[in-house]
Amino acid sequence: MTNKTIVTLPGDGIGKTVLDSALRVLDAAGFEANYVEADIGWEFWRSEGDPLPERTLDLIAEHKIALFGAITSKPKDEAFEELAPELKSSGAIYSSPIVGLRQHFGLDICLRPCHSYLGNPLNFIRRGVDGKLEEPAVDVAIFRQNTEGLYGGVEWSGPPKDVHDAFMTHPKFKQNFGGTPVEELSISTRIFTKKATERILRAAFEHARKNGYTSVTVCEKPNVIRETSGMMYKMAQELQKADFSDIELWNTNIDAQMMWLTKNPENYGVIVAGNMFGDIASDGFAGLIGGLGFAASAQYNPDTGVGVFEPTHGSAPKYADYETSIVNPIAMIEAACMMLDFIDEQNIAIKIRKAVANVIEAGEVRTYDMARLPGNADVIQKGAASTEEMTAAIIGKLT
Ligand code: NAI
Ligand code: MG
Repeated sequence: MTNKTIVTLPGDGIGKTVLDSALRVLDAAGFEANYVEADIGWEFWRSEGDPLPERTLDLIAEHKIALFGAITSKPKDEAFEELAPELKSSGAIYSSPIVGLRQHFGLDICLRPCHSYLGNPLNFIRRGVDGKLEEPAVDVAIFRQNTEGLYGGVEWSGPPKDVHDAFMTHPKFKQNFGGTPVEELSISTRIFTKKATERILRAAFEHARKNGYTSVTVCEKPNVIRETSGMMYKMAQELQKADFSDIELWNTNIDAQMMWLTKNPENYGVIVAGNMFGDIASDGFAGLIGGLGFAASAQYNPDTGVGVFEPTHGSAPKYADYETSIVNPIAMIEAACMMLDFIDEQNIAIKIRKAVANVIEAGEVRTYDMARLPGNADVIQKGAASTEEMTAAIIGKLT
């Protein structure tokens, strides 16, 4: 047996179902590993007051690589309601275990690939100049800074006096907001550091070079958000000049990028952005290639080699208890392939992606989302494939 150990984090709801599918595909494709299952999610919040127990962090720290299904998350008040009665006085406050993982392991690089599979009925289609329908081949890799920016958590409603005083030293704040009573102010900051910006840019350029993409596009808004977006674009220019002159550097504004999304998505290769704009761009591109059943992401720290691989979708509680699961396992299987890329098992990843491509192109086995059916228990009778049938079909195409 191999000495490679993968931590599995099934989580909640359909997270368990799709992870199970991915593990079966990995196994059938000849990937050898030991798996150790770790606790994460709602169940552990309710029973222990912690959705990301210390023992889970220890396991990931030890083995570095984790495959994550999905979790259920709820607003703070609702979370408190569901906490085990004996824990209600413990002071436990719910916080997202996903954000917790990012912060604990400094998973500052987030990669979300969006490539269309030939024959996927959910692919984006547009009308060409001659009136004929065109189905552009989308192959974009989005690098999202994962720990800073608007999601950095530095924010206030009714900021304390010293904070307010500091803001008042900025002429624009004084002019535009100085007259607003403090209790009427909500402030969320957008902080970029040079270190993290350099890391995400370098990851994007390196990915482009390694995978044959000819361009890297910085997708921000430097003309308006001059300090943070401006810094990122300027650093990208310097980095490109110094180390990546073989790769073209493009610059788009996030708003314009969303408009161009449906105009020329095939023109883009690697896209790099801060936390919020990266989140937006990746959802936008994911919509062109089939949405939640197809979108996956990798979050990693290049220094420590810790990586967490997951589908973008959540626990879809609505489908969690179906006797026959109907959800699409492809996003989770793609996440497993990204894990294989990360640990230099590309040959197995290629094999799995080829099998997925073959199933999609053949068009005989389609989960309800691919069949464009409303997600209900009757979709199987209507001809949609179950999770199990899709998994078996992919395994059947492995060569
Ligand atoms: P969701 O992604 O769980 O589901 C939204 C809808 O997308 C589903 O109702 C279903 O129609 C579709 N869908 C999702 N995954 C699918 C799949 N594999 N195949 C086919 N269709 C699929 O998002 P929702 O409903 O907003 O959130 C449910 C729970 O998941 C919440 O508690 C939320 O906080 C959590 N969540 C967790 C995430 C994670 O673990 N990374 C990400 C997003 C939400
Ligand atoms: Mg998102």
